[in-house]
Amino acid sequence: MKKIRQPIIAVLGHVDHGKTTLLDRIRNTNVASKEAGGITQHIGATEVPIDTIKQLAGPLIQLWKGEIRLPGLLFIDTPGHEAFTSLRARGGSLADLAVLIVDINEGFQPQTIESIEILRRNRTPFIVAANKIDRIKGWKVEEDEPFLVNIKKQDQRAQQELETKLWELIGKFYEMGFQANRFDRVQDFTRELAIVPISAKYGIGVPELLVLIAGLSQKYLEEKLKIEVEGPARGTILEVREELGLGTTIDVIIYDGTLHKDDTIVVGGKDKAIVTKIRALLKPKPLDEIRDPRFRFDQVDEVAAAAGIKIAAPGLEEALAGSPVIAARSEEEVEKARQEILSQIQSVVISTGKVGVIVKADTLGSLEALSKELNEKGIPIRKADVGNISKTDVMEALSVREEEEKYGVVLGFNVRVNEDAEEVAKARSIPIFTGNIIYKLIEDYEEWIRAEEE
Ligand code: GTP
Ligand code: NA
Ligand code: MG
Repeated sequence: MKKIRQPIIAVLGHVDHGKTTLLDRIRNTNVASKEAGGITQHIGATEVPIDTIKQLAGPLIQLWKGEIRLPGLLFIDTPGHEAFTSLRARGGSLADLAVLIVDINEGFQPQTIESIEILRRNRTPFIVAANKIDRIKGWKVEEDEPFLVNIKKQDQRAQQELETKLWELIGKFYEMGFQANRFDRVQDFTRELAIVPISAKYGIGVPELLVLIAGLSQKYLEEKLKIEVEGPARGTILEVREELGLGTTIDVIIYDGTLHKDDTIVVGGKDKAIVTKIRALLKPKPLDEIRDPRFRFDQVDEVAAAAGIKIAAPGLEEALAGSPVIAARSEEEVEKARQEILSQIQSVVISTGKVGVIVKADTLGSLEALSKELNEKGIPIRKADVGNISKTDVMEALSVREEEEKYGVVLGFNVRVNEDAEEVAKARSIPIFTGNIIYKLIEDYEEWIRAEEE
């Protein structure tokens, strides 16, 4: 049987620009109005049922003439950029749509740009939330008010200041090749980026943001969201975590099919596919029910896409964040899933023996993203692998240097440099570039090449 699943909406943006506050606000508003039906706090995700959106949106829902047939929205918060990369890079199929949050008072920041690059690379449609408008001097706050109502209550000066800041943002987007406009001035949502001014803290503009997300998802993503509910589940690992009394667990977003508690799953590890039998499917209990942290979860028998779920199973110690999870119900399916996962790993973790740079990253997803970016720049790769920078990596860069000096380097994304590696690198003057913003990391390296060539 086919059904339309919730679109997965990733919220991203620079640190402290208000991603979590926005989701908190959406959740709390709902807690206050119980009749709208509960927003479920999933593992790593927040589910907002369509009735809640309709209620918050009020008459705004009529912006979309047709009926909204989506069951709701599944939001994923992105705590820091690297998690998002790993989560996105798996085929770009996880986030169906994104909300890019920009603090309107701070404007574009490094991770804003990085987020846009990721969205562009994966062709993910997105909406911009220009946050913290309440900080504009003299702004009059009315909690949870639609922006278009709230703006009318502001004095001339505050209105003007908002306009100025919006134009600055629009200019920045233009520089990056995007036509952007305030959402109510957008003529064609397929060509222009919509900017919704909001205050995540006070809920201003959140009604319009939700309506736009729901409407755009319905209009442009409906076909993609149709899934075979009873099919075997597919998902992506958000995090690998140690849990008291449960051992190593994986937090997974399921985007297709239904996962059953006695399914076998195949998940990606560092250099292998892990086949294991589910021990428990776990959902967090509502906050007010958690008295003893050892009993934070409820066991469930099955979970249908789209949803966030914690999986306890033996042998997950070597599972990798950002890797796929595929459920299998027969020997044949296990083997097929294993092959699929292996070939995905092998396309990312490579050892080419070529004259090229050594690349290390914390997850498969971030490794894939960094390698892709290097490929686009025409920078050859000798080795790409997951893990901290080791002495072996430095030694390998050393041998590359003998052939081509500018490629005798190690690039590390969100990883540490082992002590012995550091020592050798210093002694032999092998440059190590590390960081947690991909474009910045590559920029640093390119700058070094330019300096060397002079
Ligand atoms: P990271 O997860 O660390 O990347 O940050 P984040 O984007 O999730 O930001 P977070 O929601 O943690 O907010 C950072 C700070 O900004 C907090 O102190 C919030 O209270 C504040 N903040 C967020 N949104 C607003 C807003 O609309 N208005 C005001 N005045 N403050 C806000
Ligand atoms: Na923060
Ligand atoms: Mg946050």
